[in-house]
Amino acid sequence: MLGRSVNLLFVPALFIFYFAPAYANGDDPKAQAIAKQNTCLGCHAVTKKIVGPSFQDIAKKYANNPGAAAFLKNKIQKGGSGSWGVVPMPANAKLNDADLSLLVSWILRGAPNGN
Ligand code: HEC
Repeated sequence: MLGRSVNLLFVPALFIFYFAPAYANGDDPKAQAIAKQNTCLGCHAVTKKIVGPSFQDIAKKYANNPGAAAFLKNKIQKGGSGSWGVVPMPANAKLNDADLSLLVSWILRGAPNGN
């Protein structure tokens, strides 16, 4: 009796730990999907510069900046240049606040599980 109830708890716990490293944050796949749908990945990659800076470089640049999330949400939505050079990012006006928050928190964590 006791053995069986312990097993019932143990199996789901193993399942969660098994997937934990791949999906440390359940929001990662969602953020990546939003990035794909909004063509972010045409100009940004996780580790290398394309037209825009890599997501890991962005994460590094803003690592100790407590205002970064608000600044970057606004920047992604409105577009603009000046942080990395003269090439501007186009506006992404149709992203809502929740999607912007997901994207920015994913990027600031270095875009884990990205492309
Ligand atoms: C047409 C190319 C292009 C697309 C599409 C694009 N970006 Fe960018 N992105 C850039 C460029 C160029 C910069 C550098 C702007 C600068 O120097 O201020 C940039 C900068 C950024 C930054 C850093 C901003 C800063 O001021 O440091 C973030 C974050 C970012 N992009 C996220 C995104 C996301 C998320 C998407 C999709 C919704 C996206 N980008 C789509 C070209 C692009």
